[in-house]
Amino acid sequence: MNSELINKIKTDGIIRLENFLNKEELSDLQKIVKFYSAPKSSKNSYWPTNSKLLLYKILKLDFVKFKFSLKILNFEKSKKLKDIADKFYGSKSYLRFIDAYYSPVSNKNIIDWHTDQAYHGDKNPEKYVNPDHYFLKIFIYLTDVNPLNGCMSYIPGSHKIGYAIRKGIFEKKISYRPYWHLKDFRKLIMSEENKEYFQNYFKNQKYLLEKFLDITNNLTNQSSSHNFDYTLKAGSAIIFDEGGVHKGSKTLQQDRMVLRYIYSNFK
Ligand SMILES: [Fe+2]
Repeated sequence: MNSELINKIKTDGIIRLENFLNKEELSDLQKIVKFYSAPKSSKNSYWPTNSKLLLYKILKLDFVKFKFSLKILNFEKSKKLKDIADKFYGSKSYLRFIDAYYSPVSNKNIIDWHTDQAYHGDKNPEKYVNPDHYFLKIFIYLTDVNPLNGCMSYIPGSHKIGYAIRKGIFEKKISYRPYWHLKDFRKLIMSEENKEYFQNYFKNQKYLLEKFLDITNNLTNQSSSHNFDYTLKAGSAIIFDEGGVHKGSKTLQQDRMVLRYIYSNFK
């Protein structure tokens, strides 16, 4: 991947890669994911991330999963996915997990506007994350996605604000309060007690904070704005920094299949 695209992930927090898979890769991966049709976070949605874990499948005599797992791991190598993560972090990255799942047709958003690395909105987390430890997510779509069918929406640049929040909390410059949900994320930034911290932090990028607050002012899950949607054909991918504000739309038209490779810059 060229440095222009890597820089775009750093600046916007996200990039889209159309036709990331060729026809054969797409049909191979579709067959594998369809075979299990595993819902998100279910046992069969996870795949081994290294050869040691891969061998367990043989020990368990699960030859089908072994064969498929090998393909999924080989695909990671042939597409040089780790190389993308290494370049993005500017240091060694680690493949933390691979999952592939199936989201059936539904009139509920897959997930509302939120940021990751936010303790799922926990009121009192036990400890705070190091802001420099975060995940890079590679989503590969195995079915078409659009605003009515399970596409991702992402607010470009918002990952920089997510980072500032985590850093402020970690360094005890601002006090913790839930910020997983967009509504709370905005409240935290706008609160009187945090004003100085954010103004200082973004003193050279004032527009970034102002623009974010402006565009998210009326942004709800029912919002008709599709400005931030990533409509893509099967075989395309998005790569994003999970600290940005994002959501997954309803799957009103057809079941959705994705394959994800998640990297971190820490062990
Ligand atoms: Fe998320």
